[in-house]
Formats: sequence, C-alpha cells, structure tokens
Amino acid sequence: MYFTTVVLSVCTILVLFFCFLRNNKFRNDSKTTDPPGLPFLGNALELTSTRAVLTTFLKYTKTYGDFFKVRVGPFRRLFLTSNHQILEHVLGGTKFLRKSDLYDFLKPWLRDGLITASDGEIWKTHRRLLTPTFHFEILQQFIEVFEKCGDILVENFQNRIGHSFDIYPHITFCTLDIIYESIMGVKLHVQKESNTEYVRSVHDMTRIVIERIVSPVQTHDFLYPFTRNYRIQKRALEHLHRQSSEVIKTRVKELEDMNNNGSSSKATKSKKVFLDLLLEARIDGRKLTQEQIREEVDTFLFAGHETTASAISFTLFCLANHPDVQEKVLEEQRSIFPDESEIKVSYADLQNMKYLELVIKESMRLYPPVPLISRHIPTDTKFGDKLLPEGDTVMLFIFGIHREEKYFEDPEKFCPERFESRDGKLPYGYIPFSAGPRNCIGQKFAMLELKSAISKIVRNFELQPAFPVHELQLVAESTLKSANGVKVKMQPRKF
Ligand code: HEM
Repeated sequence: MYFTTVVLSVCTILVLFFCFLRNNKFRNDSKTTDPPGLPFLGNALELTSTRAVLTTFLKYTKTYGDFFKVRVGPFRRLFLTSNHQILEHVLGGTKFLRKSDLYDFLKPWLRDGLITASDGEIWKTHRRLLTPTFHFEILQQFIEVFEKCGDILVENFQNRIGHSFDIYPHITFCTLDIIYESIMGVKLHVQKESNTEYVRSVHDMTRIVIERIVSPVQTHDFLYPFTRNYRIQKRALEHLHRQSSEVIKTRVKELEDMNNNGSSSKATKSKKVFLDLLLEARIDGRKLTQEQIREEVDTFLFAGHETTASAISFTLFCLANHPDVQEKVLEEQRSIFPDESEIKVSYADLQNMKYLELVIKESMRLYPPVPLISRHIPTDTKFGDKLLPEGDTVMLFIFGIHREEKYFEDPEKFCPERFESRDGKLPYGYIPFSAGPRNCIGQKFAMLELKSAISKIVRNFELQPAFPVHELQLVAESTLKSANGVKVKMQPRKF
C-alpha cells in the first residue's frame, strides 16, 4: 500500500512537471482578453463540475466577449468562442474536420465511429456510406417504432397524474427503447424493465466520459487505470460491446438463413433497420468488418438517445410554463386530427406540425441538447487580430451563441414565433445540430421522433408548471441536463 502510494505520487509529480514544461511552450500571440487564472491551476477551480462549466463559461462570455482562452490546470488550454464568423469558418469548411482530444475519452466505447473518427478519410467514407440511411423513405419506417414507444411513455405518465415529478428519466428510457429498436431491430424494453445491466452500463459510460474531462487525475491515460472509474468502465464496456456484437451476429445469421432458404424477397421487403443497411453497405466493393459495424452501431446508440431525451424534456418543460404556447400546439393538433377516435400518426401528419416545429426550435435555442462541441486547430488561423494557434483546441459554445443579444432579440424570452421569420438568416447563429460537413447526421430522424413524442403527450395531458416552482439547474454533460431534474405536473386531457 505504502509502495503504491509512493509510486503514484512520484508519477503524478512527473506528469505534472512535464505538463508544466509543455504549458510554458504555449505561444502567447493571440490577442485576447482572458479571465484571470491562478499560476499552474489556471481557471480550473472555477470549472470543477459539469454544472460549474456552463455557468462559468456563460459568465466569462458576458465579461470577456465572444472569443477568449481559458486554462484548465497546467496542461490544457482552450479557446472558447461564440462568435458567428469564427463558428462559420470552423464548422463550414473542411479544414477543421478533426475533433479535439476531449473526444478521446469516448474512444474506448465508440472507437472510430462517426462522432469520434479522427482519420479524415475513414470519417469521409463512412459519412458518405451512412448518409443515404437517413433518406426520408427509410425514416418513414421508424414512425411505427416512435409511436409504439411513445404509447408506453404515456402509460407510464398516467401513473403520475396530479403530481410534480421529474420527467427526464422516463423520457430517456423511451428514447433508448426507440434508438435501440431502430438500429438493431430488436426491442430493449427498458421502459418496462429499466434496472438492467445494459442501462447501468450506458449510464456509467456517459457519466465517466465527462468526469474524465474535468478530473485532473482521470484525464491522464497513465493515472486513470488506478481509479475506480477505470474498473467500472471496463465492466460496462465488456457488457455493451458483447451485447452489440451478439445482436449483430444474430442478425447476420438470420439474413444468411433467409438467403439460403430462397426467401431473400422477405428480407428485402420487411422493414430495414440501420443494422441491415450497415450489413449491406460496401466500400470499394468491400463489406464493413464486424468491428466497424459495431463501432457505428454503438455511436448511433450513444448519439441518438440522450440528445433526443434532452430536447423532449426541455420542450415539455417550456410548454408547461407557457400555457398560451401549449394552447396553440393543441389547436394545431386538433386541426391535424379533427375527428379520429383512434389516431394513427403518419409521416405527413408529422410534417404538418409546423407550429410544434417552431416550439421545438425555440426550446433547442434556449436549451441546446449539445451545449458545447470542440475541434482540433490544424494550422494557425487568423480572424483580424484574433489567432487560433495550431495544435490548440477551439470550443464552440453553442449554448452561449444561442443566448447572444446580437443574434437574438430579448434572448432569455421563450418565443417560438421568432423562428417564423428567421429561416436562412445567420445560419451559424443557431446551431443545435451543429453545421457544415460534420453536422448531425440524425437530425431529420430526431425531429420526427421529437414531434411524435411531444404531440402525443400534449394530446394526452395538460402540462402544468411544477409545484413548488421548479428552477432548472442546468449542467453541461455530454448533453444538456438539469441537476435537479426537469419537473412538471400533468393532468388528464380530453383531446
Ligand atoms: C435533438 C437531437 C439531436 C441533437 C441536438 C444532435 C446534435 C448533434 C451535434 C451538435 C452534433 C455535432 C457533434 C460534434 O461536432 O461533436 C451531432 C453529431 C452527430 N449526431 Fe446528432 N443530435 C441529435 C440526434 C441524433 C440522432 C437521433 C442520431 C442518430 C440516429 C444522431 C447521430 C449523430 C452522429 C452519428 C453524429 C456525428 C456526425 C459526424 O461527425 O459526421 N444525432 N449531433
């Protein structure tokens, strides 16, 4: 025990010493006015938790403007921006395609899937290959999954009528069921049985990735194996990777059997899930390896459930607190479904929910599900007297830009109508799905899912503010969450 402590202490001192040397090499030729920090620690003491990150970055933006740098300990320097032109330059072109090393913490789980792929060629080929899987004809097939899972969510909410409660966990289970079935073609049923090893493993991994970013010890690959999170991660990944691999193997076998039995027509006619499209895909005539397929499957599961859960939860929160807006959403629903007793929602119905779309857009402005993204800076890049120096990291503060007075009048006000006249204006001033070539590949899928879930809830319940009044405590994890939950009250509605 004594020996381990001494070895660990010596290693920590050595790592910090080398980081300090490296830090001293940071060039200081970017003319920015920065928040003052402590020697060695920089601004780390103001960024000790995921909750602190958001409030501190917002406070800095108000004080130091839309471009400044922060230091997190002796070894990490970040350029933070919510400047429209810089965002356009970074996201819009092909120069800044590589993600920053902050995404490396996702790599043990997602490897070289689309989100984390650091090799530009791999990313480009996979992106080209996967884009057609989000064609609207394919997306239409998933409405049935959205609707079935949404019905279970409504059943669960029926048990909470009249109480103020946190909707977020229920919605996360629903979106996890949706993405799993849409990708794998098999049901996960976490809405009915949430205490499973799969749910625990997903939860552990999303927590650990963020804790590693803000922890001075866990951030180092060298020290991380000595921590408790390392052991939890090992167990979680064994489970997640094994479960994905097993589903992939079973599906390959099913498709082979169908082909061998001469029933290939059945395989092609039945609904195709993402996994089938990945199994059919070819790069230069070659199939993807099972490992590559698993990487993409895991990536879509990760990217496609907490984001949508965040968007649905905050939109319902906004509706509960703005009865006039909720009334307009309801009117639109009544006009789309005038007299059906048993509503069967179609693709066209979802497309017609125009006012609901404005509401979702405005909720994602105030509560962007992905509040921060970041890129590696490949070469020195100047904007007037501002410099992004080669090799550093630029963080694009989506949450900050969405609340900039320069781009949105009265930015704290919830006003869906502002999007009626906004389309096309300042495209990089509103970027919940990011923008440019590395934008969100799943955004159309997400919008349909959001409309399906929110409209179903509004048709079934009257949403009211929680009692006592619920103040959100926003935290920037891999997605935007509220530390004290997203609470609302529901009453039965006669539609
Ligand atoms: C409201 C819901 C969603 C929001 C707000 C959202 C937002 C984003 C953002 C901001 C990015 C850029 C990330 C970065 O640059 O680091 C992104 C990328 C991505 N999203 Fe989404 N997303 C949503 C839903 C989905 C869904 C449902 C899927 C899958 C079905 C998905 C799959 C992906 C993938 C694979 C990428 C990486 C794309 C690439 O690098 O080429 N997302 N998303």
